[in-house]
Amino acid sequence: MKYLVTGGAGYVGSVVAQHLLEAGHEVTVLDNLSTGFRAGVPAGAAFVEGDIRDAAKWLDASFDGVLHFAAFSQVGESVVQPEKYWENNVGGSMALLAAMREAGVGTLVFSSTAATYGEPERTPIRETAPTRPTSPYGASKLAVDHMITSEAVAHGLAAVSLRYFNVAGAYGAYGERHDPESHLIPLVLQVAQGRREAISVYGDDYPTPDGTCVRDYIHVADLADAHLLALTAARPGEHLICNLGNGNGFSVRQVIETVREVTGHPIPEVAAPRRDGDPAVLVAAADTAREKLGWNPTRADLAGIVADAWEFAQSITREH
Ligand SMILES: NC(=O)c1ccc[n+]([C@@H]2O[C@H](COP(=O)([O-])OP(=O)(O)OC[C@H]3O[C@@H](n4cnc5c(N)ncnc54)[C@H](O)[C@@H]3O)[C@@H](O)[C@H]2O)c1
Repeated sequence: MKYLVTGGAGYVGSVVAQHLLEAGHEVTVLDNLSTGFRAGVPAGAAFVEGDIRDAAKWLDASFDGVLHFAAFSQVGESVVQPEKYWENNVGGSMALLAAMREAGVGTLVFSSTAATYGEPERTPIRETAPTRPTSPYGASKLAVDHMITSEAVAHGLAAVSLRYFNVAGAYGAYGERHDPESHLIPLVLQVAQGRREAISVYGDDYPTPDGTCVRDYIHVADLADAHLLALTAARPGEHLICNLGNGNGFSVRQVIETVREVTGHPIPEVAAPRRDGDPAVLVAAADTAREKLGWNPTRADLAGIVADAWEFAQSITREH
């Protein structure tokens, strides 16, 4: 099969593109390199440096489907520059859906997010939980989910939205290198590499066992498996929404301790005030993905996730 991967020069898109190639598919990556890297595009994929808002230029009926990762995803930035998020995430997705309709490409897998739920009333979070995003980023992703639902109903699109919790780890040469980095594991690894003096712990008085926030870390390769399954599970006229997480929460302190064990570095901590809009616990109920996609994550062990991320972090530092 032949797939267009938008955002395939970024973290998750590059890992999924590599998985698609390994499964024998033909892949074209469409990425404007706004936050991604040319080196992130897997060697076997065709590369188009371009914007999803111009997707109609490259999408034609020869494609069997689209995997749509391209977006801005910094929560804090979205609060101060919301227009950037509406423009790119919502405007871009609208143009992509129009191009798909025009070209007669009827299958879509979309990167949605746990940020569509906002502060949960109960955990683990199910797909039926209220969606009350606390940032323009989460709201922009939720708007795209709504857009996709109506596209499926009106025009028969076969669509799956995957709501990722905290993606982590690496897959060989493909891993996380956001700039600026905002995710916990790569930030703590920067301390281990001597690129940052200490890790800030935002709040240690949450109602959790050690007082720090608890998150659900999912290995990026397990996430990639779910995308390939979603392509097969997508049905015309239906929009399936699935949470992707392990259902195990790890606290900020547990992550830091695991990085100490994996790297042998003492990792100094600095206490910092809570950040606005940071819920105490975000853990996924991923039963829908297991039942409807037949998804079975196999890399839930936090030490393994951190070890893969550590290997990748060291490899890109050696490159520079
Ligand atoms: N990383 C996570 O933990 C996480 C969690 C939940 C959801 N997501 C979602 O997963 C997707 C991928 O996230 P990531 O962490 O890989 O981010 P990333 O920034 O590494 O990748 C996004 C890619 O999209 C490209 N891009 C952005 N706007 C574009 C446009 N208009 N046209 C073409 N290319 C464009 C960027 O250059 C980049 O390569 C995003 O949609 C994000 O919202 C990520």
